[in-house]
Amino acid sequence: MVQTRSLTIAPSLLSADFSRLREEAQAIEAAGADWLHLDVMDGHFVPNISFGPLVLAALRKHVRIPFDVHLMIAPVDPYIPAFAEAGADHILVHVEAGPHLHRSLQLVRSLGKKAGVVLNPGTPAGAVADVLDLCDVVLAMTVNPGFGGQAFLTSMLPKIAELRRMIDAATLPSGRRIALEVDGGVAVGSMRQVVEAGADTVVAGTSVFKAADYARAIADLRADGAAGFPGDE
Ligand code: DX5
Ligand code: ZN
Repeated sequence: MVQTRSLTIAPSLLSADFSRLREEAQAIEAAGADWLHLDVMDGHFVPNISFGPLVLAALRKHVRIPFDVHLMIAPVDPYIPAFAEAGADHILVHVEAGPHLHRSLQLVRSLGKKAGVVLNPGTPAGAVADVLDLCDVVLAMTVNPGFGGQAFLTSMLPKIAELRRMIDAATLPSGRRIALEVDGGVAVGSMRQVVEAGADTVVAGTSVFKAADYARAIADLRADGAAGFPGDE
């Protein structure tokens, strides 16, 4: 039987040409990206600094696809309203960013945004078990956050499968489905592996933005991912 599971591709602007962010964001949208992934880094939670809400706000009016905003900052709560105001559609907070994950997710939802939770490679799947009812997205890191272009950690595949089982078993508010997203080192090859493990959404920085043809790179990822769907022909 041929199944039709759809894959969401979220290119990460971190690997784009920062001198041309608007053109890059528009080009990736035109190339077939589903979401634009925006990596916010503070030089404290992660050892790198990227951009903040002013950059999101400047881009928002030029791009239609959802902004998937990955906050690698601590503390996170004081800045969530600014990212909501700047035009984030999904606001993703790290389990490790502070002691009050539940409160952070409540805050995101109270602002009318989709809420996501992110797990570092060293954080077990069970860390999100008690907040799934507040989540629209669960993101498993397959590199240590902070930089694009790192090698995919195959050791994370069992955790992706465990998160898939947890999400499928969760009792959610009616109509809610949780996206299982993977971030870090995704390219043709690892794409198929993460889909086989249960991911339905992938971030891709280097493998898309460093390609000569963005549309071809996204199509190649989709084809590799489709090969990973169990039961597909
Ligand atoms: C890493 C970021 C990723 C990164 C992915 O901290 O969260 O989104 O940009 O880049 P690649 O796909 O190159 O690993
Ligand atoms: Zn990211």
